Amino acid sequence: MCGIIGIVSQEYVSSKEILKALKRLEYRGYDSVGYALNDGTVEKDTGEISDFMRRTKEKNFRTGIAHTRWATHGGVTRENAHPHTDCSGDIMIVHNGIIENYLEMKNKLLEKGHKFRSETDSEVIAHYFEDKLNNMDLKDAITDFIKEAKGTFAVLMIKKGEDRIYAFKRDSPLVLGIGEKEFYLSSDIYGFSDKTDRAIFFNDDEFAVIDKSYKFYDKDGNEIKKEVKRFQWGFSEEEKETYDHYMIKEIKEEGKAVRRIINSLNNEQHEKILKLNKMIKKAKKVAFVASGTSYFAALLGVYFLNRVDVESQAIIASEFRHFIRVDENTLVIAISQSGETMDVLKALKFAKEKKAKIVSIVNVPHSSIQRISDLSLEILAGQEICVAATKTFINQVSLLLYLANLNGLNVNLNNLHRRIQETIDNNESKVRQLAKTLYRERDIYVLGRGLTYPIAREIALKLKEISYIHGEGMMGGELKHGTLALIEKGTPVISLIQHEDYEMLSNTKEVEARGARVIKISNDEKINPDFYLKTSKDEKFAIAATIIGQLLAYYIAKEKGLPIDKPRNLAKSVTVE
Ligand code: M6R
Repeated sequence: MCGIIGIVSQEYVSSKEILKALKRLEYRGYDSVGYALNDGTVEKDTGEISDFMRRTKEKNFRTGIAHTRWATHGGVTRENAHPHTDCSGDIMIVHNGIIENYLEMKNKLLEKGHKFRSETDSEVIAHYFEDKLNNMDLKDAITDFIKEAKGTFAVLMIKKGEDRIYAFKRDSPLVLGIGEKEFYLSSDIYGFSDKTDRAIFFNDDEFAVIDKSYKFYDKDGNEIKKEVKRFQWGFSEEEKETYDHYMIKEIKEEGKAVRRIINSLNNEQHEKILKLNKMIKKAKKVAFVASGTSYFAALLGVYFLNRVDVESQAIIASEFRHFIRVDENTLVIAISQSGETMDVLKALKFAKEKKAKIVSIVNVPHSSIQRISDLSLEILAGQEICVAATKTFINQVSLLLYLANLNGLNVNLNNLHRRIQETIDNNESKVRQLAKTLYRERDIYVLGRGLTYPIAREIALKLKEISYIHGEGMMGGELKHGTLALIEKGTPVISLIQHEDYEMLSNTKEVEARGARVIKISNDEKINPDFYLKTSKDEKFAIAATIIGQLLAYYIAKEKGLPIDKPRNLAKSVTVE
């Protein structure tokens, strides 16, 4: 979490420019914001970047660093906002990550008389360098820092009066963008993808010094050569256009995005998906690993593969090493929109140590997860700005359906984009009406079975994160083992009923019998559902039902006047454990 940006420009630019670049990373965290320029200016505050931009006076600069925060150590206060400085104010840093041994480092510095102003782990970095510079140069001090610091970090550091940024990282992402007359340092390519398509990705424990040119070094300070990569990233979908929120814009892009992934799997990514299929067949064990929404896509992956007699399992990334044994015969398939989720990265590092093969399914190209994979497929959903995953989930599921289809699952994916569009067109206004009757609820239960179980979980997650309603997504069959006790007159229950799923119908009756207010979503007209989704009777129902859930969470949140694209306490890219 947290987004960092640095700019070293040959010409003077306005401080608004660094904030505009930072705004592109706002989805990484939005508690507080700040920037520092190499003339010693430090401006920072709590709150959002747009408000901060309006409040702060414009200044021209050539070298600056900026930060948008998602608090870990220390509350959301101006003092805890980045940049942080040393005692003199000459060394300014921004940091993404967590310095685990910061207390130990801080105590040593306190003994030497350093004065700290914040409760953060990050401030220790500025004082550490102030102390080191008494008897060594900055390059040597960075190699010492890399050896001494425990934890994760992507750090940008400037010194008053120098047109230069020092950048170093471990586990947290960092990339250098190479422009015509300027260099950008950013947590991800989106920070500068409107300016350049050329980038150099930092590996762990590498550092760089960037001024009129750039030089990269390994952890011992030896200069290293790095490859400049060109990347492609959809520019056309970035603006909110006429929509009130990115979330609804992104839901409405789902048809287009699905068409793009299916086309690509038929063409440029065809070899890759065939290769993945071969790896699956060769492996003795296949395990998906993911977090949040991507985990629900992984659960669907297990379901689809099971339908074609391929055994696999899905494990939540943060629990991976506790729940599975992996070796060289294991294939681990990571699913991650951002490609940066720390829990997933840690699970993959663990799997790699055990010599497992790693495949990833990501949205963001050149992301850390993609870079440590033996094979990586891209879901091509385009930039997703709303914190809640919507179109990326649909594309992850579409890719997994395609994989199962290769193995004989009978599902027509050629009309999927049209089915998605119809689902939105035919149901949006009805969902909006339903939202008006549900927005005051505290709990909503979502029931599914088999194909619809992961969807029940995903809809519940959307209700929690966007609508701030306690959503509980569960297996219909599990109701009678406890949760049924919570169902009383009027309790809202969304029931996802796949065509002729009689067991799910029975579970629905069980809650109806206890007075629940049941909302049925089905592709079975006979049962007279509230939302009849005219998809064919196949697995595409999972996608259509998800869309109803996404729209519902959106319209409930809108009814409540919530900050839909940036829900409280969350961030799009979760780069802490
Ligand atoms: O980037 P990832 O797909 O790895 O992210 C995983 C989760 O953090 C993410 O899906 C999260 O649950 C979203 N807020 C869901 O909308």
